[in-house]
Amino acid sequence: MTETLTEAERALLPGERDIAHYREHGWWVSPKLLSDSDIEDAWFGAERYYGGERDAVLPFEAGTDWTARRGDVLRQNDYVSLQIDQFRALVRHPLIAATAARLAGTARVRLFHDQLIYKPPRVSPRVSTVGWHTDIAYWKTCSSRNLISAWIPLQTVTADMGPMTVVDGSHRWTGNDTLEFFHESDLDAIAARIDTAGEQVVPVPLLLGVGQVSFHHCRTIHGSLPNRSDRARAALAVHMQDADNRYVPTVDEHGNRQSHINDFLCARDEFGDPDYADPEVCPVLWQEPV
Ligand SMILES: [Fe+2]
Repeated sequence: MTETLTEAERALLPGERDIAHYREHGWWVSPKLLSDSDIEDAWFGAERYYGGERDAVLPFEAGTDWTARRGDVLRQNDYVSLQIDQFRALVRHPLIAATAARLAGTARVRLFHDQLIYKPPRVSPRVSTVGWHTDIAYWKTCSSRNLISAWIPLQTVTADMGPMTVVDGSHRWTGNDTLEFFHESDLDAIAARIDTAGEQVVPVPLLLGVGQVSFHHCRTIHGSLPNRSDRARAALAVHMQDADNRYVPTVDEHGNRQSHINDFLCARDEFGDPDYADPEVCPVLWQEPV
């Protein structure tokens, strides 16, 4: 967390041009940050998780969208890093959070939550497409618009595997903070609802080798097509808070209070609000050395 990186590790961090790319496009693809054994460990963790093992048990079922009863469909399971040691280690990989800190321009990065996403091969597009969405659309109680996600594939991601696809530069369009269509499969229908700020929609599929990681801004529109290959496509999305993020109470258009699962997992702060700096749920993943 607060450890210093070796010289070889520091050489892998984004430089000025990379940071400029992230700020302009809303996404960036890293060089190989993770070793093959890091990835093997993550796969082992995924197998343990899907097999029902837990190293720690949450106070309630949090974000468990997929269970074996749902069958061979897109799997999305949240908070695996709070439940499985291998993912606990992966989200703490210093290069991932240090990279996020540099791209977001923040001195400290805290975990917000994580998602293990598994796309089975050769299943109906209806059950394996991830619809266009922004992550911030699901984080209505966050004060910041500078959260950042790392998307860590557990294998090579080729064009036929339904790669994570970002809409280039869409983090600069401010009208999509309610674009929450993760579970919808008609990408064209959703595209008609994007506020493009008068710009063109340019989807960019992010093809990654083993150990590479992609990063995207919380306002960057993204989704993915079905996995048409004969291999499973698994990834861990690590959603991270910049130093300034905190809980803010919000209501929807009907006056109903909005919430995030973190609001029920985190301890309360001095005002009685969810503490998004709770060290158990939202640990510091990176702190710039002073
Ligand atoms: Fe997302």
